[in-house]
Amino acid sequence: MVIEQSLEKLHRRINYLRLSVTDRCNLRCMYCMPEEGIPFLPHGDILTYEEMLRLVKISTRCGIRKVRLTGGEPLARKGFIHFLERLSDINVLDEITLTTNAVLLKEYAADIMDCGICRINISLDSLNPERFFQITGRDQFDRVWDGIQEAERMGFNPIKINVVAIKGVNDDEILDFARLTREKPYHVRFIELMPVGKENIWSVDKFISTEEIFKRIQTLGALKPIVSSPLDGPADRFVLDGGKGEIGFIGALSQHFCDSCNRLRLTAEGQLRSCLFSDQEIDMKTPLREGREDDYLVNLIGYAIENKPEEHGLIKSGPRKCIRQMSTIGG
Ligand code: GTP
Ligand code: 5AD
Ligand code: SF4
Repeated sequence: MVIEQSLEKLHRRINYLRLSVTDRCNLRCMYCMPEEGIPFLPHGDILTYEEMLRLVKISTRCGIRKVRLTGGEPLARKGFIHFLERLSDINVLDEITLTTNAVLLKEYAADIMDCGICRINISLDSLNPERFFQITGRDQFDRVWDGIQEAERMGFNPIKINVVAIKGVNDDEILDFARLTREKPYHVRFIELMPVGKENIWSVDKFISTEEIFKRIQTLGALKPIVSSPLDGPADRFVLDGGKGEIGFIGALSQHFCDSCNRLRLTAEGQLRSCLFSDQEIDMKTPLREGREDDYLVNLIGYAIENKPEEHGLIKSGPRKCIRQMSTIGG
């Protein structure tokens, strides 16, 4: 009961866990992972699937009902599909979803669906193969596009496409992405570039706000708002006139959604974060490996929820705040 009450802190019901299953990735997106690489975690420091399953089960006692698997690139971790099967056996969860860069999606789409997962989020910042290469450092556009088409054929619904908008890099494709929602039932979401990671590329010159993106898209037609549901993430959702799909805006900086934030994050090495931008973390791995009982771990999760920052404070205290790399947090 005490836990249930604490969940309502600040009128935010914390029901959503983002779980980064690996810090490794098969792309090198310019805003996330520099080409020269970041030091990857030693394998022994990354939670085993067994440990993740135990923590997810325990987190359901604290109100978690939705789990999103992220990375790095989750499909790049060995044994991921087997883990997904076991995760989907946890009946108390209402939803399990996945955020992937889709490089390996064509191979795994059917297995993912067999685990009962039929919603998927895909990161894709360009519709042009050369530009894709420039942004991700890898010549993989065709594989990603084939993966998306395969997911559509298999009946994944919705297919959400995350576009990180970067001025001078891909903002000339905003209208192409918006038009895509007229041809395809995809939910295209424009994300503001966030200052995460020690050596991130964030600068005022590269930043393009939701407001500006919105105005540009309005030149194509009216944007009709859609009401969100309780397990939804942070996107403000619209349908473009004549659209089969949706357009979403994730104004991570300019329109921060901290007052309705419903999430916790568990990093690949077992650190629990109650805010993407706060480097305050609770070490879950040590007590887990020391063999602590479930109640002890439940209390730690309760503590993280109790101490969830009211807001990320980026606007007041300046943009370069979060030190940990995005690839170990999982977005
Ligand atoms: P759904 O709406 O449930 O599909 O999830 P989502 O949009 O949260 O998931 P996804 O992994 O696709 O994330 C989309 C973008 O939103 C990524 O760039 C995330 O980093 C960003 N994002 C997700 N959660 C938060 C958050 O709590 N705060 C901030 N600032 N950004 C977030
Ligand atoms: N700013 C905005 N979005 C980011 N992502 C990764 N790094 C950043 C950043 N610095 C996005 C990815 C993916 C999601 C999980 O996080 O593009 O869609
Ligand atoms: Fe990989 Fe995602 Fe980071 Fe790109 S943003 S390098 S796809 S983890």
